[in-house]
Amino acid sequence: MKKEKIAVEYQSFASFQELDSKERNLVEKALEATKQAYAPYSEFYVGAAVLLKNGEIILGSNQENGAYPSGLCAERVALFYAGHAFPNEEVEALAVIAHSDKDPLTEAVAPCGACRQVMHETQLRQKNSFKIILAHENGSGLIFDSIYPLLPLSFHFNK
Ligand code: THU
Repeated sequence: MKKEKIAVEYQSFASFQELDSKERNLVEKALEATKQAYAPYSEFYVGAAVLLKNGEIILGSNQENGAYPSGLCAERVALFYAGHAFPNEEVEALAVIAHSDKDPLTEAVAPCGACRQVMHETQLRQKNSFKIILAHENGSGLIFDSIYPLLPLSFHFNK
C-alpha cells in the first residue's frame, strides 16, 4: 500500500482592492444577487455571478422551498440558467458570496458538494477550466483556477 497526497493550490486576498476590475465587478454583482435570494427558512442569502466568454454576466441566488430539498443553491441557479440561455458560451469565471445577519460567516462561503459537481460538469462540457472566486463581505476571499482542487477525484461518465 502506498500513501498518496493531493495538494490544493489557490490564491487568497484580504481586500477586494487586490482583485482586477473584472473579478471585482463579478464579486459586486454576486453581492447584488444576494438581495434576490428567497431564503425564508435559512435566512442565509447567497449570490452567484457567472461571467461568460462573450462578456455576459448571469446572476443566481438561492431559492428555497418549504419542502427543503426542493430548493436550489445560488451557484446552480446561475450555472443552469447560463447553460440554458447561452449553451455554447464558455464560462470564464464564477463568483459567490453570502450574507446572513442571523448566522454571520467568518470566512468566504464554500460551495456545497452538489454545486461543485455541477461546476465540474461545466468544465468537462466546455473542455476548459474556469476561475472560481469565493468571497466574504469583509473583502477577503479565495480564488481557484479550476474546480479540480475543490473536487478532486470527481465523478464523470466516460462517454
Ligand atoms: N447555499 C447556496 O446557495 N450556496 C452555497 O454555496 C451554500 C449554501 C444555500 C442553500 C440554502 O438555501 C442556504 O444556502 C443554506 O444552506
